Amino acid sequence: MKILVTYYSQTGNTEQIAKVIHKIALKNHESELKKVSKVDVKDVIKYDVVFLGSACHDSDLAKPVLRFLKGIPKSPNFKLAGFFTHSTNPPEGSERNKKLYEKWAGKCHKTFEKFKLKKDIDFNGYFRCQGAPSPPIEKFIHETIFPDDDEWKEYIDEAKKHPNKTDIENAKNFATDILKKCQSLE
Ligand SMILES: Cc1cc2nc3c(=O)[nH]c(=O)nc-3n(C[C@H](O)[C@H](O)[C@H](O)COP(=O)(O)O)c2cc1C
Repeated sequence: MKILVTYYSQTGNTEQIAKVIHKIALKNHESELKKVSKVDVKDVIKYDVVFLGSACHDSDLAKPVLRFLKGIPKSPNFKLAGFFTHSTNPPEGSERNKKLYEKWAGKCHKTFEKFKLKKDIDFNGYFRCQGAPSPPIEKFIHETIFPDDDEWKEYIDEAKKHPNKTDIENAKNFATDILKKCQSLE
């Protein structure tokens, strides 16, 4: 199959995941890895599978990725899969984490689902993991979400490690599963 892995990444976390997906795709397919700013959305119809990735900005996919989704033609021939990285806690673990995730990153997957319906896209699911925040975002999270120093320390010590080995392994499995599924539907 012809695969496109395209992404928006400001500080490199989402790019790391994009590279992992591209490497998996190259094992059995033709794959191109491109920043979303380098892709003309009109060209996406030449691919069988498009992996579209984004950093989470303001609880949603970043603007360049939203623009890309808006530009996709209706009922495209390719299959789409999403991936994103976010700095707030993952939803697993506690009720508080779930609530924080919903508030600060919860729009990302909903946006993919929204475009699936709006554009009649064959959307095959998404991958997400935590990504270390950059210094200005760290400051925002400390002041706004975790003003308590103990909670902050617990959060930032963990957040700084991501994407970690487990995230990379999960991204590999995600890419492998999506490609197998899409191949079987060809
Ligand atoms: C302008 C800006 C806004 C952000 N807003 C959010 C947010 O609302 N929720 C969140 O979980 N992370 C937010 N982040 C953190 C990033 O999503 C996170 O660090 C991500 O891993 C960055 O990916 P990148 O390294 O590929 O750019 C924001 C980062 C920036 C720079």
